Amino acid sequence: MLDRDVLLREIGLSPIWRSRETTTAATASQTSVQHANAESPEPLNTAQADAPNTPPLVTTASPTAESDADRAARIATLSWAALTADIAACRACKLCETRTHTVPGVGNTSPEWMVIGEGPGEQEDKQGEPFVGRAGQLLDQMLAAAGKSRKESVYIANVVKCRPPGNRDPQTDEISACAPYLERQIALAQPKLLLALGKFAGQTLLSTDATVAAMRASPGERSGIPVVVTYHPAYLLRSPLEKAKAWCDLVAAKRLSESRAE
Ligand code: URA
Repeated sequence: MLDRDVLLREIGLSPIWRSRETTTAATASQTSVQHANAESPEPLNTAQADAPNTPPLVTTASPTAESDADRAARIATLSWAALTADIAACRACKLCETRTHTVPGVGNTSPEWMVIGEGPGEQEDKQGEPFVGRAGQLLDQMLAAAGKSRKESVYIANVVKCRPPGNRDPQTDEISACAPYLERQIALAQPKLLLALGKFAGQTLLSTDATVAAMRASPGERSGIPVVVTYHPAYLLRSPLEKAKAWCDLVAAKRLSESRAE
């Protein structure tokens, strides 16, 4: 029987993600990412306007607050900068009470791909940037294998912009309160492809309660933009053999986005 490392090597997924046809390109891309880390300015981090929280005087929206519909309509008109400021000041759900920083998103604001995760974890909450922990390192490797990077061709955001305490799942009311922000980010970014990482991103983008397996099997669309659902990198860290399936999803995503570029 094949041992796991041998199997992963055989399918080109160890020690790092590599496309057989694009090994050289992927390696060059990784090198340039590392180089850029050392010498280039940071990518636009739309969290920069944010500041650590002070204890709330009012914990949730006041009775005079705008209606959900008015709020969504107002958010739908915001620029990137105004959106970042609005997110930093947001008190639309209870996650504002426990966050350190809001985590709006990072990367190229006119991206080829927009990657959507679930919500900030501990490190992201501390730094105000999405996917900076171990799952983020794997995500960067996955993107590099597909010839993409958060510095150049990808914008990364989450379904909820504040950390759910203890990394619990985001709740329905929290996802709904944050939905106008995600909607506006997609409208401003106009990516060729939306890559949804895991159940919450897939279900939110595709407005479904289907499983990841079902969503992977039938790519959908959101606002006319193709949506490919794949496994969340945190899940892939726990279940590395699933990387082969995620790799197939990335190949499908690349094909779809390239066909839209033609
Ligand atoms: N997991 C996510 O879904 N998003 C992050 O930003 C970090 C980890």
